[in-house]
Amino acid sequence: MIRAAHAAAPGKIILFGEHAVVHGQPAIAVPLAAVQVQARADPASAGSGLTIRAADIGRVFRFRDAAENHSFYNALIYPLRLALDWLHQSEPDLTITVQSTIPIGGGLGSGAALAAALIRVLLAALDSPLPRETVNALVYEVEKRHHGSPSGVDNTVIVYAQPVYFVRGQPLETFEISRSFTLLVADSGISSPTHITVGDVRQLYDAEPDRVGAIFARIGEIVRAARAAIESGKIELLGSLMNENHALLRDLTVSSDKLERLCRAALDAGAQGAKLSGGGRGGNIIALAEPGQTDQIAAALRQQGAARVIETVVRS
Ligand code: PMV
Repeated sequence: MIRAAHAAAPGKIILFGEHAVVHGQPAIAVPLAAVQVQARADPASAGSGLTIRAADIGRVFRFRDAAENHSFYNALIYPLRLALDWLHQSEPDLTITVQSTIPIGGGLGSGAALAAALIRVLLAALDSPLPRETVNALVYEVEKRHHGSPSGVDNTVIVYAQPVYFVRGQPLETFEISRSFTLLVADSGISSPTHITVGDVRQLYDAEPDRVGAIFARIGEIVRAARAAIESGKIELLGSLMNENHALLRDLTVSSDKLERLCRAALDAGAQGAKLSGGGRGGNIIALAEPGQTDQIAAALRQQGAARVIETVVRS
C-alpha cells in the first residue's frame, strides 16, 4: 500500500568544533529551522516507477533511468536507493517532489537535509517507519559518498533536529540550553566544497602533526567550555570562545578574506563573538548578538557583501 506523504528536514549550523571533529574532538551543532528541505510523495499509476521532481531547478529524474545511465550516486537518487536496499524493496510507483531553501555548498547541511527528507518521505509513503538511528546511518552513507570522510555531525543534528554535542563514532549526546541566545547567520555567497577543506586540513595535519594536533586539542577544550557555558546559562562567555575558535580555524587555513571581513564587520557592529561555521573558505559565518543589536549587525554584514542574513534563536 502506497500513500501520500510529506516530510521535512532542517538546515544546521555548527556552533563550535568543525574540522577538529573530523579528528576525534567534540563539536556542538544546532538545527536551523529557518531553512529546510520539504519533500512530498504522491502515489503514481501502476508501472510508472519512482520519479523525483526537483522543483527548484525544474528537473525530473527517474529512478529507472539512473540504473541505465549509472547516475546512481546522484544526490536525489542515492538516498532513495539506499533506503530501498535497506527495506529489500523494489522501486515503488511514486512521485516525490522536493524543494529546498538551504543554499548548496554553504555549510548549512543542504546535502544531509536533502537525503534525510527524501528517505523520510519514502518511508512514510511506504508505511515502513525506521528508527532514527537507521535513518541517520543511511544519511551518513550518503554524506560519505559526497564528502569523503565526514565526521557525521551534519547528518546527526539534521536527523535528530535538536542541539547535539557530537563526538565521531559515539552515540548521540544532547545537552541542555538553559538560556536562549540569538545568532545571525551570514552567507558569504561563496560556495566551497567541504571535502576540499577537510582534505587540506588533513594534509596540514600530516605535514605538521604536533602544531595541528595542538590546534585540534585546543578546539576540543573550547567546545567543552562552550557546552558548560550553554548548560549553565553563561551566554556572555560564548563570544570570546567563538572568536578564539575562529582564530584557530584561520590557523587551519579554512578562513578567507571574505569570511574575515564578515566576522570583523559583525564584531565592529557590536556582536559579542563571530566565527566561520562549517567547512569554511566560503559558506557562512555566525555572530552572537544581543536581541536589541541584531538589526545593526545584520546591516553591517549586508554592507560587507553578505548574500543573506538569517536571524535565529537557539532556544532553551
Ligand atoms: O558541511 P559543512 O560545511 O557544514 O562542514 C561540516 C563540518 C566539518 O567538520 C568541516 C566536516 C565534518 O565532516 O565534520
